[in-house]
Amino acid sequence: MVTFDNVTKSFSGHTVISDLSLEIPRGQFTVLIGPSGCGKTTSLKMINRLIEPSKGSIFVDGQNITKVSPVDLRRQIGYVIQQIGLFPNMTIEQNIEVVPRLLKWPKEKRHQRTRELLEMVGMDPKEYLGRYPSELSGGQQQRIGVLRALAVAPPLILMDEPFGALDPITRESLQDEVKKLQTSLGITVVFVTHDIDEAVKLADRIILMKDGEIVQNAPPETLLAHPANDYVREFIGKKRMKANYDVDLVREIMNPRVVTTTRDKGFAESINLMRKRNVDSLVVLDKEGRLEGVVTVENLRAVAGKQHIAQIGEVEMKSVPTISMNAQAREAFDTLITEKLPFLLVVDSKDRVKGLVSKTSLVKALAGVVWRDDEDDE
Ligand SMILES: Nc1ncnc2c1ncn2[C@@H]1O[C@H](COP(=O)(O)OP(=O)(O)O)[C@@H](O)[C@H]1O
Ligand SMILES: [Mg+2]
Repeated sequence: MVTFDNVTKSFSGHTVISDLSLEIPRGQFTVLIGPSGCGKTTSLKMINRLIEPSKGSIFVDGQNITKVSPVDLRRQIGYVIQQIGLFPNMTIEQNIEVVPRLLKWPKEKRHQRTRELLEMVGMDPKEYLGRYPSELSGGQQQRIGVLRALAVAPPLILMDEPFGALDPITRESLQDEVKKLQTSLGITVVFVTHDIDEAVKLADRIILMKDGEIVQNAPPETLLAHPANDYVREFIGKKRMKANYDVDLVREIMNPRVVTTTRDKGFAESINLMRKRNVDSLVVLDKEGRLEGVVTVENLRAVAGKQHIAQIGEVEMKSVPTISMNAQAREAFDTLITEKLPFLLVVDSKDRVKGLVSKTSLVKALAGVVWRDDEDDE
């Protein structure tokens, strides 16, 4: 999707990107990471010609971007930065419609798209369309910044530390949303951060940079398990890698807050619960708290129009692998990664569901190890 071919960038004789060659695959979430000043923003801005390379070429979709006018190029590429700069004197609706208007979309199409986007992130259009940015929280404003970038459904989106200024809880929920949108819409995202937890959580591939060069380019699991050198090890936190993940048990690292339901619960009630807790599946338990299966948004959608469905037990369920609370965390992560599962359910010795392990648990577990080691040192 995006190719860097021996790209060099110098600012007044000082080289900040040196001979960078790189393939960013279509439909994937690629994260550029590295310490401040290593050239992340410069690399990103060269993709939409906010900065021009000194040497080498960049291709988007096989086309050399110097052959496309910057304006045309940027229409096909969404761009989200930390200071989103929503237009303060425009309503939310007008802000989201900036690019569709430039592209002269008919009014009907614009309006429909804007409503659809707001609904996608659970913001009621009736409530928000007419508001001004200052009437929204920082997190909501940033969410609108993301929607604005998505408005014309560009195949490629560039994001430069978009959530850096948000509090941790808002940041987490926006990360979840962006990841969900990226997967469901199949878009290519190039995302810049210096936060390794954020990178591991979001990325299909992580590109770790240092002084304008790539040090390692790998999926997050590989980066964590097989750091290319000491610099990588240092960056991801050497102490995390003492593979304490061998000694941690599933019950110590699992998320105990599983969103559950039972067969006899109402269909509508269950959909509401998913909305409220912002999850895309519900774990169905029997009376003893044992796993019956999982209903997903897709399962629910498939039966949405059918009047005779009243209870959740009538909806088709998926089976999800389980793991014992007392198994080793490492085993859970290996299964997650090799089977490419979104999550594993954790059960006790009586098969009752006690928690859930996901990629986020992996990140948290590793972070926990850093903290604990620091405490134990000397
Ligand atoms: N317009 C510019 N003029 C001169 N130097 C610049 C300019 N933009 C960036 N740099 C320098 O290039 C290097 C890389 O910057 P940048 O890409 O912003 O890094 P990052 O986003 O990884 O923090 C830094 O040393 C920075 O000072
Ligand atoms: Mg930067």
